[in-house]
Amino acid sequence: MSDQYNASILSMLPDGKPPVPGSIEHLVSGLHMIHSVIRRGTESIIRAAPTVTEQNLKEFKEYILSYISNVISHHDHEEEIFFPILKEHFPPSLLTRLQAEHHDLHPSLDALTALVNSWFPSPQNPTPTPYNPQQVIDAVNKIKTLFFPHLEAEEEQCTIEWFRSKGLVKESKDILDKMNAAVRKDSPVFALPFIVFNLRPEERCLILDDMPWPVRKVLVPMVFCKWYSSYWQFAWFNEW
Ligand SMILES: [Fe+2]
Repeated sequence: MSDQYNASILSMLPDGKPPVPGSIEHLVSGLHMIHSVIRRGTESIIRAAPTVTEQNLKEFKEYILSYISNVISHHDHEEEIFFPILKEHFPPSLLTRLQAEHHDLHPSLDALTALVNSWFPSPQNPTPTPYNPQQVIDAVNKIKTLFFPHLEAEEEQCTIEWFRSKGLVKESKDILDKMNAAVRKDSPVFALPFIVFNLRPEERCLILDDMPWPVRKVLVPMVFCKWYSSYWQFAWFNEW
């Protein structure tokens, strides 16, 4: 495994500890967290593709669909919450670039969706396409080429120092409150375990600490992450 994808997100925080809820540090580490999940999710598909067999192809398809829905949901949250609140503070050319890149990525996500759906028969697809790992790797590499520089550009702009220098304390809290409300609408058995299993165990506090104790300690590990447990075998860190 590459160190780049194993490096702990907590190490970016000033004291290496979980941030104060609602703070600038919480927002910036949350952005890095979801970006790391997306990067590891992308790499995990490339890593798993050559090992997939007919026996676990259905699970691999569902894992990839969960990846795609997490990317789309992350973009929706940025476009509906993050960008509007920060638009007066971002350099205008950067905002235009980031929005255009979201738009440009969608045909590649659609192509990956079509590929995984082509493996199984349906009324629209009576003759399934045989599984070919190289097709998955090529489709995901195309997403990676477009998407990873985009994630880096957002991170270069949205540093803890930049938020502090602009005095964006209220805006950070506002974004976090709205993001938390939006994330609660995502599927707890599909979207949430994808995030959890692409985080290191010690990083999971970044997403779990906001939840009430019975959800964090019981529902997430014993119900939500178990429901479709066979899908998460492909995740970067696939153990609880
Ligand atoms: Fe983005």
